[in-house]
Amino acid sequence: MNTADLDAALARAREEIRASSDDAGLKAVERKYLGKGGTLAAWLAEIPRLPPEQRGAFGKAVNELKRAIADGIAARGAELERERTERALADTSFDPSLPPPVAPRGSLHPITQVTREIEDLFTSMGYQVVDGPEVETDWNNFEALNIPQDHPARDSQDTFYMSGPGKLVLRTHTSPVQIRAMRRFRPPLRVIAPGKVFRNEATDASHEHTFHQLEGLVVDKGVSVAHLVHAMKTLLRGIFQRDLEIRLRPGYFPFVEPGFELDARCPFCTEGCSVCKRTRWIELLPCGLVHPNVLRACDVDPEEWGGFAFGLGLSRLVMLRYGIDDVRLLLSGELRFLEQF
Ligand code: FA5
Repeated sequence: MNTADLDAALARAREEIRASSDDAGLKAVERKYLGKGGTLAAWLAEIPRLPPEQRGAFGKAVNELKRAIADGIAARGAELERERTERALADTSFDPSLPPPVAPRGSLHPITQVTREIEDLFTSMGYQVVDGPEVETDWNNFEALNIPQDHPARDSQDTFYMSGPGKLVLRTHTSPVQIRAMRRFRPPLRVIAPGKVFRNEATDASHEHTFHQLEGLVVDKGVSVAHLVHAMKTLLRGIFQRDLEIRLRPGYFPFVEPGFELDARCPFCTEGCSVCKRTRWIELLPCGLVHPNVLRACDVDPEEWGGFAFGLGLSRLVMLRYGIDDVRLLLSGELRFLEQF
C-alpha cells in the first residue's frame, strides 16, 4: 500500500462520482469507499500491521482521501439537486400557479339549515336548545300532556307503539320535551326543542310518517297571550325577514288552554296564490298557554307559574321557505334534490 494506490483510488472514486446520475448511484459509491466495510475502512484496519514509522503518515493520507471523496460526493449531490430543479422548472406540463383541484363539498340539509337559523334566533333571546329521545314513554308523550288513555286526541296522532316491555312509543310530537325540560330545569325557563317525530299515517305530498317539528316553551310568572304573540312575530320576522300580520284562531290541544292555530299573512303574494290557496293566510303553527294540568304533572304550581308553548311544523316551514311541493322529498335521500341546497 503506498501513496500511488491512494491516488489511484481517489481518481477511481472521482470517476464513479461523476458517472453517478442519481442519488441512489451516489449512495452506492459512498458505501463502496466510505462505508463500514468499504475500501477506506479496510485500509485503516491495515495500519496496525505497518511499520510504526509509516503509520502516522499513512493514516493521515487515508483521512485526506476520505475527506476528498466525501467532498466530491456532496458536490455531485448538490449538482444533481440543481439539475432536478431545472428540469422541474422547464416542465411546462405542470403549472404550479394553477389552483388545486377542488374536493367535492357537501351542504347542510335544508331542515338543518332552517333549524340552525331558528336556534340562533331563539338563543339570542335567551332560550336554551334542548333535546329529547325519539323513543318516548307513553307518559311523557301523552299522559303528562293531559292526554289520558281514552282521550280522543290520541286518535289524531296515530302512534307507532314499540313492542316489548314498558309503554314506549315513537314520539308523535316534540311536546314531550316540554315535560322533560320542566322536570329537569324547573321554572323560570325558555327552551326550544327541534327534532324528528313519527306518525303512523298514510303519506301524501303534505304528510310524512317521519317529519320534523320545533317545540317552544316558556314558563315564568305572569306569562300571557301577548308574550306568545310577541315571540311568534319575532320568529316570523327571523324566518321571512319582514313583519308579517298574524291572526289567532281557536285551536284545540289538550295541553294548552287557551289553544290557537296561528296563521300568518302569505309572504309570497298580495292577491292570493297557490301557496296560500288563495286565502292570503298560511296556517303556520299551533300554540297556546300551557294547561295547568301539564304544569301540575311536572310538579310546577299553576298558581305561581304560567307559560306558553308552540309546536312549529318544521318540515312544512322548510317547504314554504324553499318552495318544495312534496314533503316526502325531504327525507328521501334523493341526491338530485339535496344538491340544490
Ligand atoms: C302538535 O303536534 C302539537 N304538539 C303542537 C303544539 C305544541 C300545540 C305546543 C300547542 C302547543 P299537530 O298535530 O297539529 O300539533 O302538528 C303540528 C305541526 O306539525 C302541524 O301544524 C304541521 O305543520 C306538522 N305536521 C303534522 N302532521 C304532519 C305530517 N304528517 N307531515 C308533516 N308535517 C306534519
